[in-house]
Amino acid sequence: MFRSRKAKTEDPATTNGDDMLVIVDRAVNPYLVMFHDPAGYRAEQVRALRNRLVTMNTDSEPKTLVVTSAGRSEGKSVTAINLAMALSELERQEVLLVDADLRRPSVEKYLNLNPEAGLSDVLLGSTPLEKAIRPVGRRRLMLLGAGQRVANPAEVLSASRLDELFARLKERYQYIVIDTPPVLPSTDAGVVSARADGTLFVLRLEHTLKGNAREALRNLQDLGANVLGTFVSEIRGRDPEHDPELRYESSGD
Ligand SMILES: Nc1ncnc2c1ncn2[C@@H]1O[C@H](COP(=O)(O)OP(=O)(O)OP(=O)(O)O)[C@@H](O)[C@H]1O
Ligand SMILES: [Mg+2]
Repeated sequence: MFRSRKAKTEDPATTNGDDMLVIVDRAVNPYLVMFHDPAGYRAEQVRALRNRLVTMNTDSEPKTLVVTSAGRSEGKSVTAINLAMALSELERQEVLLVDADLRRPSVEKYLNLNPEAGLSDVLLGSTPLEKAIRPVGRRRLMLLGAGQRVANPAEVLSASRLDELFARLKERYQYIVIDTPPVLPSTDAGVVSARADGTLFVLRLEHTLKGNAREALRNLQDLGANVLGTFVSEIRGRDPEHDPELRYESSGD
């Protein structure tokens, strides 16, 4: 069986001379379109989302941006990673991706990186912030993974610790994209969203129940989250990859 997360140590092609982590294509989550097909239609949709969010940042100050959804498996992590990659394409923009899903972290797994010290270790004070942030080998995108598993994620993600952390991160990064657990099963996403500048709500077409989405959005708003909009994942209908009307290609000259 192919063990994706071992690839980094087993395959010398996965590190370069500077010991910078390099993502191995074959093991990266197939829905990370910004990685697998940056010229494709779906990657353009992510760039369109990025452009809308950048336009909404009217004062151009650094921003923390949470990606969340009502329930499990609705595309939060994939959307957060794609969005962070799209933001890191912009000139002179330092971007940090944070995995704040301390319950079921998946960012490192999707990027085929080994789990290392991360957010929980920083919040608990056992690892300095600078040591926990590392490059993902994709432009200048940096990562703060979830870190060691903790028994009490809700306590570790306390409002005052998050405020302090976000203030420090904003000294260094223009955009901080934060993946979170779903809103309904735990309080974590609500707490993080309430401390962040904006929240993007992911809906999975033909999957997210309307009542759940409404309840989650109400929860977020009650907690003081600034919900900027929704992103619909897994769009069905015409396949854009094979529809010439939907595919925009350069003329090749
Ligand atoms: N556009 C898509 N089409 C089909 N499957 C997708 C798509 N995007 C993501 N997936 C798959 O759906 C699953 C859930 O995606 P993802 O992990 O991003 O969701 P999540 O909301 O972060 O889940 P969790 O609640 O467990 O954190 C993954 O297996 C992922 O590979
Ligand atoms: Mg997730």
